[in-house]
Amino acid sequence: MQTLTTIDELRRQVRAWRQAGERIALVPTMGNLHAGHLQLVDEARRRAGRVVVSIFVNPMQFSDASGGDFERYPRTFEADCEKLTGSGADLLFFPAQEEMYPAGFENVTQVAVPGISDILCGAFRPGHFVGVATVVAKFFNMVQPDVAVFGEKDYQQLLVIRRFTEELCFPVAIVGVPTVREADGLAMSSRNQYLGAEERQRAAALYRALQAAGERLSSGETDIAAIETAAVASLEEAGFRPEYFSVRRAYDLLPATANDTELVILAAAWLGEARLIDNLRLRRG
Ligand code: PAJ
Repeated sequence: MQTLTTIDELRRQVRAWRQAGERIALVPTMGNLHAGHLQLVDEARRRAGRVVVSIFVNPMQFSDASGGDFERYPRTFEADCEKLTGSGADLLFFPAQEEMYPAGFENVTQVAVPGISDILCGAFRPGHFVGVATVVAKFFNMVQPDVAVFGEKDYQQLLVIRRFTEELCFPVAIVGVPTVREADGLAMSSRNQYLGAEERQRAAALYRALQAAGERLSSGETDIAAIETAAVASLEEAGFRPEYFSVRRAYDLLPATANDTELVILAAAWLGEARLIDNLRLRRG
C-alpha cells in the first residue's frame, strides 16, 4: 500500500489505474480505524480492482473546529497504517489540512443538502452535514471513483451523501455496509474510547433500546410516540442523556406513521463524555 499526501500525486496514480482499465473504489474515513472501517475496505475490494482509503479529520464537520471535539478526536496514523497494510487497500490518501482547505474552510464553497441535514443529528450539530457533504464531494472530485463505500452506522450521513451524489450528478455508486458491532451489540466507533470502564459496561443499552423498540413495532404496536417515550426512559435509567430516539421512514427520515413499512429507528445519546449514535432498520407488514 502506498501513502500519498497531495492531490497532484493522487490524481496521477488514479489516472494511471484508469488508463489500465481498472475500476476504483473510495472509502473515506477520519482514521482511528476499527473493524467497522475494515469491513468497508473489504466491500470496496469486492467491487473494484483498486481501493483508495482516505484519512482526514475534517475540521469543517466539527462545530468547534478550533478546539473541543475536533482537537481531541483520536489521531492514530501509525496504527491505522498497520491495519490498512493487511487489508485490501492499495492507496492511503492522507492530506494535510492546507491541502484540503488552502483558503481555510469558513468562506469557501459548500455542498448543502437542505431538509434532511437539519433534523435528528443535524438539529443537534448545526453545520455538521454541510461539512460532511462538502469534504466527501471534494474527495469524489479528487479520486473520481466508480464506487464509494459508507457505513450504515451513520445512517443519516449515508442518506445525505446519496442525495447530493444524485442531485449533483456525480457518476459514483454509493454502497452502504451494515454496522459492525462489539460482542455485546455496541456499534464500533472511534468515540467508544471516551467511555470509562463502567460506562463501557452500560453502553450496549443503546442497542438494546433500539431492539426493544423494534420488537414492539414488529409485533404490530402502532403508538410510535409511546414506544419512543419508553425508550428514552430506559436510556435515562441506564445513565444516558438522550438527544433523540425516533422512529422514521427509512427512505427520507420523515416521522413514521402507522402505515409506513420501511422504517429506521435512530438514536443519539450521551454517556459520560461520549456521544453515541446507533440505528436499526426494520421492515413491517
Ligand atoms: P468515520 O467516522 O471515520 O467513518 C468512516 C466510515 O466508516 C463511515 O462511512 C462510517 O459510517 C463507517 N463506520 C464507522 N463505524 C462503523 C461501524 N461500526 N460499522 C460499519 N461502518 C462504520 O464518517 C466519517 O468518518 C466522516 O463523516 C467522513 C464520511 C469520512 C467524512 O469526513
